[in-house]
Amino acid sequence: MAWRNDERVWGTPMRVLHWAIALGVIGLLAVGWWMQDLPNGPRKIDIYKLHKSIGLTVLALMSLRIALRLVDRRRPAAPAMPAWQRRAARASHGLMYLLLLAMPLSGWLYNSASNFPLKWFELFRVPALSGRDETLKAISGAVHEYAAIALAAIVALHVAAALKHHFGDRDGVLRAMLPFASARPAPRAAAEPTKEQDP
Ligand code: HEM
Ligand code: HEM
Repeated sequence: MAWRNDERVWGTPMRVLHWAIALGVIGLLAVGWWMQDLPNGPRKIDIYKLHKSIGLTVLALMSLRIALRLVDRRRPAAPAMPAWQRRAARASHGLMYLLLLAMPLSGWLYNSASNFPLKWFELFRVPALSGRDETLKAISGAVHEYAAIALAAIVALHVAAALKHHFGDRDGVLRAMLPFASARPAPRAAAEPTKEQDP
């Protein structure tokens, strides 16, 4: 098990966080757009509560991910990647980090400005970030709505790029992030010359 990122794989903690957050975010985007059109009633309230609790969990996991990224170096880009692709990957990853913070924070702010109570999975109360405030409610609601569209678009591009790396370039970029990726040793020939290769 690789704890830290290296040339071959992302470390296990980064991989676990990547897939847990990806799963949560895809679910939250789908449920977020669906839940608003549900008829009012206890079922709608329960689904909103679940959306908020999972959203707060994503915020906690993102804080952990940022802390890890500060102490562990980034995996180097595949050597064959042209400079524009490296820059595009860096920019899109940075933008995703920003949106993955903006989404839960704007949701939390929207909930606070609407003066709704907030509990994490019915286990404990989460403090409000503000009192009732109509202007703040409108701004945070708009941020939540438009940042969701931007996030969905950039995730779609990100997934397309990952699949292109895997099936087109076959450069191991996706394998290095897969849940069961292992830090396989380099092929022997690459690591040390064999007898047959010796001059
Ligand atoms: C990564 C985290 C999150 C994602 C991806 C996400 C996604 C979404 C999406 C796509 C919608 C529907 C679009 C719209 O805003 O009108 C939505 C609505 C909503 N979200 Fe989130 N959300 C997240 C976190 C949160 C959190 C942490 C809270 C509150 C603590 C929250 C509260 C709400 C509420 C109250 C609505 C309904 C807004 C309305 O009825 O107008 N969300 N969310
Ligand atoms: C909501 C869904 C997703 C989000 C928000 C997301 C976000 C991210 C972010 C922010 C990174 C940069 C790594 C870091 O510095 O932490 C990353 C890396 C990566 N993601 Fe995703 N991801 C999602 C889904 C996916 C899916 C479905 C795939 C595969 C089809 C995928 C494949 C990868 C790969 C291969 C990398 C490593 C890229 C590299 O080494 O430069 N991701 N992802």
